[in-house]
Amino acid sequence: MTLYQSLADRLQVLIRDQVYPVGSRLPGVRVLAEQQQVSVSTAVNACRELEQRGVLEARPRSGYYVRQPPVVREPPRVTTASRRPRRITGQERVLQILQNVNNPSVVNLGAAVPAPEYMPVAAMERVFHSVLREERRRCVGYAFPPGAPELCTQVARRLAGLQCEVSPEDVLITNSCQESVAIALKLTTQPGDTVAIESPTYYGLLQVIDSLGLKALEIPTDPEEGISLEALTLALERWKVSACVVVSNFSNPLGVRLSDTRKQALLALLSKHKVPLVEDDIYGDLPLSGPRPRPVKSWDRTGLVYYCSSSSKTLSAGLRVGWLVTPERHREKAQYLQFINTVSVATPSQLVLARYLERGHYDRFLRQLCGEHARGVARMTERVTQLFPQQTRVSRPAGGFVLWVELPGEVDTTELMEKALEAGVSFAPGSLFSASGKFANCLRLNCAVKWDNRVEQALVTLSRLL
Ligand SMILES: Cc1ncc(COP(=O)(O)O)c(C=O)c1O
Repeated sequence: MTLYQSLADRLQVLIRDQVYPVGSRLPGVRVLAEQQQVSVSTAVNACRELEQRGVLEARPRSGYYVRQPPVVREPPRVTTASRRPRRITGQERVLQILQNVNNPSVVNLGAAVPAPEYMPVAAMERVFHSVLREERRRCVGYAFPPGAPELCTQVARRLAGLQCEVSPEDVLITNSCQESVAIALKLTTQPGDTVAIESPTYYGLLQVIDSLGLKALEIPTDPEEGISLEALTLALERWKVSACVVVSNFSNPLGVRLSDTRKQALLALLSKHKVPLVEDDIYGDLPLSGPRPRPVKSWDRTGLVYYCSSSSKTLSAGLRVGWLVTPERHREKAQYLQFINTVSVATPSQLVLARYLERGHYDRFLRQLCGEHARGVARMTERVTQLFPQQTRVSRPAGGFVLWVELPGEVDTTELMEKALEAGVSFAPGSLFSASGKFANCLRLNCAVKWDNRVEQALVTLSRLL
């Protein structure tokens, strides 16, 4: 734990013990630093941490105030296990939700796409200009798989910082995390095979499974602990499973982070059954508090893990750049599969991302971004708690920027979506996150929206439709 986190913990105890009651103002950061014998920057970081935890509120030119603790709702329930592997159905509606992201008359609470306000647009523009100026000749050509060497190096460096043994030669640049997952599944399965997945899970994964002619075996996933290792154990004993796909850090839609202990147990279990793990770590850089967690890949010593990620949730979904780290035995086949998919990933995009990472501002940007997401998630949770029916259950994501909401009673959120779209609001209906039509009474909300009157109004509209 860092110095500022332990100071934040100490301050939180003082707040709990009413030394600083609700509504009171904390001493200014300089006074706090002196009192607690820490540097001013540690005091500032501790206050920011408490702001992210929803304990303090920053008031411009006035200081940090203790917030009213929010009413805490129960987390959504864990579903029962699938009875058998099954083919995917009903994913065609996803495109309708995604098309509305770019429709200015619809408030996008549906797709997990951060509003441009959260992306480093100005920094990206500068990097684009410098790349187009200095790398003109390369920009008009292909950057064949495995991709631009400088980007492979940057990705390997970041993974080294997460204790993964990965060299630049292990990295394959792809068009997206989705393509990385698809290539990993092509490497590990044959049409008709079964893939074990979290439930609920990201709908894009269901589409990939569908397009490859695979079957999904849904494993119950706890909103606070992640995929049930007990259920997975039983499934592996009962069915022939060819691969397991897990979003290990801040899954979509639950936002749950597997603890380090559970990550190691997952790896041991899959290793015992010789089942490869396709690890999707697209949200790993986005903790709502605390440090960036390690991926499962960092414990992999036998080449069981296929590591997938991209820059879509952090820097730019528009770049369309992702990466895949395969075990060495599959390196060449993975490159060939990427090549026959699209020949090459766009060269300017690769060079821009490499240069942005080389400039070394990424971590600072991430700290700011995670703070924004923590505020967005806290605010959305508060408004849903105030506006939605009494027995509504709400996830408590540890990272990322989406909320999973379970509504009481017989609501069908797919039907609700049609009415919501007519009223200018989009959300993602729960059944999209299941291969078997589960979660009809759930919905997912995107919290990375620019919070203004339209968003407030959209939530009021949604609550009325409920
Ligand atoms: C868990 C997960 N994986 C992959 C993706 C797709 O990302 P990309 O744009 O890199 O394909 C998403 C997008 O929402 C996601 O939530």
